[in-house]
Amino acid sequence: MNANEIRDKFLKFFESKGHLIVPSAPIVMKDDPTLMFMNSGMAQFKDYFLGNKKPPAPRIADTQKCLRVTGKHNDLEDVGHDTYHHTFFEMLGNWSFGDYFKKEAIEWAWELLTEVYGLPKERLYVTVFGGDAEEGLEADEEAKALWLRIVPEDRILYGSKKDNFWEMGDTGPCGPCSEIHIDLRDEAEIAQLPGRELVNKDHPLVIEIWNLVFMQYERMSDGSLRPLPAKHIDTGMGFERLCMVVQGKKSNYDTDLFQPIIKAVAQKAGVHYGDNSKTDVALRVIADHVRAITFTIADGQLPGSTGAGYVIRRILRRAVRYGYTFLGFQEPFLFELVDILANMFEDVFPEVKQQKDFVSNVIREEERSFLRTLDTGLKRLEQYFEAHAEKQVIDGKTAFELYDTFGFPIDLTALIARERGFRVDMEGFESEMQKQKERSRSATALETGDWVVLHSDNEVEFVGYDTLSCEAKLLKYRKVKEGKKTFYQLVFNRTPFYPEGGGQIGDRGVVRILGSDVQIPIVDTKKENDLIVHFTTDERWLSVDGLADKIFLLEVNKEKRLAAQRNHSATHLLHAALKKVLGDHVAQRGSLVSDEVLRFDFSHFSALTQEEIITIEKIVNEKIRENIALDERRSVPIQEALEMGATALFGEKYGEYVRVITFDENYSRELCGGTHVRATGEIGYFVIASESSVAAGVRRIEAYTGAKAVEYARRHIDLVQESKHMLKAKDLKKSIEQLISEKQSLSKEIERLKAEKVSAIKKTLLEKKQEVDGVNYIVDKVALPDGNALKQLAFELRNQVQNLVLILGAEVGEKAQLAIMLSDSLVKEKGWHAGNVVKEAAKEINGGGGGQPFFATAGGSKKEGLDRAIQKAKDLLK
Ligand code: ALA
Repeated sequence: MNANEIRDKFLKFFESKGHLIVPSAPIVMKDDPTLMFMNSGMAQFKDYFLGNKKPPAPRIADTQKCLRVTGKHNDLEDVGHDTYHHTFFEMLGNWSFGDYFKKEAIEWAWELLTEVYGLPKERLYVTVFGGDAEEGLEADEEAKALWLRIVPEDRILYGSKKDNFWEMGDTGPCGPCSEIHIDLRDEAEIAQLPGRELVNKDHPLVIEIWNLVFMQYERMSDGSLRPLPAKHIDTGMGFERLCMVVQGKKSNYDTDLFQPIIKAVAQKAGVHYGDNSKTDVALRVIADHVRAITFTIADGQLPGSTGAGYVIRRILRRAVRYGYTFLGFQEPFLFELVDILANMFEDVFPEVKQQKDFVSNVIREEERSFLRTLDTGLKRLEQYFEAHAEKQVIDGKTAFELYDTFGFPIDLTALIARERGFRVDMEGFESEMQKQKERSRSATALETGDWVVLHSDNEVEFVGYDTLSCEAKLLKYRKVKEGKKTFYQLVFNRTPFYPEGGGQIGDRGVVRILGSDVQIPIVDTKKENDLIVHFTTDERWLSVDGLADKIFLLEVNKEKRLAAQRNHSATHLLHAALKKVLGDHVAQRGSLVSDEVLRFDFSHFSALTQEEIITIEKIVNEKIRENIALDERRSVPIQEALEMGATALFGEKYGEYVRVITFDENYSRELCGGTHVRATGEIGYFVIASESSVAAGVRRIEAYTGAKAVEYARRHIDLVQESKHMLKAKDLKKSIEQLISEKQSLSKEIERLKAEKVSAIKKTLLEKKQEVDGVNYIVDKVALPDGNALKQLAFELRNQVQNLVLILGAEVGEKAQLAIMLSDSLVKEKGWHAGNVVKEAAKEINGGGGGQPFFATAGGSKKEGLDRAIQKAKDLLK
């Protein structure tokens, strides 16, 4: 059976037992803060187990894409060194949500393995939970009794909490489990040591293949166990291991899931899998990692410098580095393997084929940029190993330099170190990291004075969603020095000023003091924990008496605020249009919303075409003309907001309650704290001014709205009008084309005339040739069109005249030039040196120069000295 058949048999089997077959969830977790990636089949069903949500069917089965590289289940370090651990793998699973329990789960697992896949019964072992006193849990005698009906007692083992109590993470659903193991050793080995001695002992050929979990508890964050509202079944079978077993192989990498990749890589490297343990490890690492990277990128996660993106980048770099060191790949190679995976998984995970080009482009770019620094970094490490052979430790500073300058993830440095018998001073590394953080903080060091507290209450109310002015009292203020600048920070108990956040700049405006004619201009507003801090550089207000008792009137600069919110709402419209036109991989990576401009960074690999830009701009303007009313909802529970389909951003931390901004529920819905137009018509007009790249895989769009957009368009229209006027053109494009073609033919004509002139000069020069003692002298002053012509002329004459001494002076524009050319024979026989002569002669034209023995030139400013310079050179060469 090939892998596809094996997978198919599993799904068909459970379908025949009344299970609904569902697709795999994406690998990257989007709405579970406890988990970065899918680490097991059940992760997407967590809420069904907990009773928070109703499953679509009581029985479900699927194959789930999993990644175990972070958190509780992390196998990264083992991958490649053994034959059965993976970063990415498929987990086959069947589930019962409050439906069948242990009996069916056990019987069906046995039936599938032994009857459908035909695995030898006598080589299978099962484990059951042996109880745990600390947790107050009894041994699972029920499971044991059920197994005893199929398996002889000597092949049933009790296991500890570590092996036989399965938990999803630090919290979440869990329960005792029963595992099925298989012994794949040779008969001779089995005769020496029975398989039961090797179960759960990390033997590569006595391995677990299926885990049946009897979900009964929820692990709470205080560590206690709470019974679930119902009992469930959660099973997981490692698909790659199953393929190895069914296909009679001794390593997962020998199955048809990995062999096509290994073969392709080995061929490219000119090695053979199985010949050399070092290259074999590299081939396995690459075969494993390229799957992890490919499937994760296809599920929308680009490599990046933080969070899930950094995990992917690290896996990719580990693969590149193994390829580089052990297989000699100095150019990107991983990206070529995407094709193989796309075809291999076409039926089960079509998303790879659908995005094949995108995925391989992203990978190639990542490889390129890492390879550039890898080389330099490895050399640096090599020097280090040599210089510190006696210490065997990579100090924190060096590890940090590799991390900071060469982009080496710390585990990569640790890995290379281990290979050389070194270790990394991790504490030193952490402290360097800390120091850098402090350095970047002190670069913008502020001298912040103590708060002058007028009222001790700390409650600050933001009213800026509903009004642009309000009365308030001043709670506290302080003086801040930043370099030479001094400013003051003011905190009021209530404010309409929007504090910078979510990309939108802080409000500006003015604060009046009632009963005084002093005004406080506010130049910026920021958030500091829960405080809203207003900035001013003015200090006249300090001399107003009785500040604590004054009423302050806070007024936001309406024009700037409206301009900023036009840009903010337009950013949402743009985000939605980008997704529509470019695809769902488009995710916000950064944004700036000011009153002048909006700037939006998003993940997308290639430059946008002019056509795409126009389409996106058109969609946004259509949405503006539709004048869609703002639908603003405050204090929506986060879960509800996400269920409403609101776009949340990667790496953004959301509270329990969020604000949801919608412009047409079928078009744009985002979690957002910013301020917005009441209806899209207020934006007026949207125009994209530029599209560029900010990093590999990240594009930037800058755009204008409202009056700025109109101004921008007007400027361009004016430019066209003026140009038309200048060219007296009816059709500007045609006129420009005409100008260009005229210029081209004129340039050609000029070149031709120049060549004609040079050849006429050459003719005259040849006529002036004088022979003295077998040496041909050509000495003259000529007028040449440009400096290049002199050199060209000299070389042409050298080819035509034997035993040549050529001394040419030329006036080129305002400058004097001198060139000396000697035949090789003269250089050799007489020891003459054009360079030395030219240097001496050039003094007459106030210039300098030099060159080789056979040819040298000089330039100078004194044209009237040219005759003397020529004479001098002539004297020197006689
Ligand atoms: N959830 C169980 C596992 O991942 C089946 O092993």
